[in-house]
Amino acid sequence: MLPTLPVLLDEATVRARVNDLARQIRRDAGDGTPVHFVCVLKGAFVFLADLIRACEGPSSCDFLGVASYGDGTSSSGQVRLTKDLDHPLNGRYVVLVEDIVDTGLTLSYLLEILAARQPAVLRTACLLSKPARREVEVTVDYVGFEIEDRFVVGYGLDHAEAWRNLPYIGVMQEQG
Ligand code: IMP
Repeated sequence: MLPTLPVLLDEATVRARVNDLARQIRRDAGDGTPVHFVCVLKGAFVFLADLIRACEGPSSCDFLGVASYGDGTSSSGQVRLTKDLDHPLNGRYVVLVEDIVDTGLTLSYLLEILAARQPAVLRTACLLSKPARREVEVTVDYVGFEIEDRFVVGYGLDHAEAWRNLPYIGVMQEQG
């Protein structure tokens, strides 16, 4: 049994909001447009899995590996590409799928890289956003929830690789 953490967003709340985002993405893309989801590993894999299944109509996905955190709970501010996409983006309707925007450094770095690959459209979807922590301006088209400056885990998000399998978003307890 997993130990329990204080719940910030329970499973039903997350599910309902992810379904809303998927509907908005489909509505904005138009019925027949294939939506190409680019998932940022590893934190966004659970969000992607639910989002893509809730987005009706044609779609595809690809995965991008990024490392921006060590084992701690604060950003190093450095972003490293650990896995590139398998497919080109030229002319595609692309939605970049991230777990959380914190300082915004990761997202702005990725948007720069992906825009250079000339997608027809480049949108961003993030499950969570911590506006108080932002260091760079970055546009997020679809935000699930704005949250306070707390370190959260679950639904794909980790702390030192643990907790990704929690079905809800929980708050890490402060140490000591
Ligand atoms: P940013 O570059 O500072 O915006 O950081 C974005 C990345 O930091 C996210 O994709 C997460 O991997 C990680 N991150 C930021 N805040 C949290 C958190 O509260 N829990 C887990 N990971 C986080």
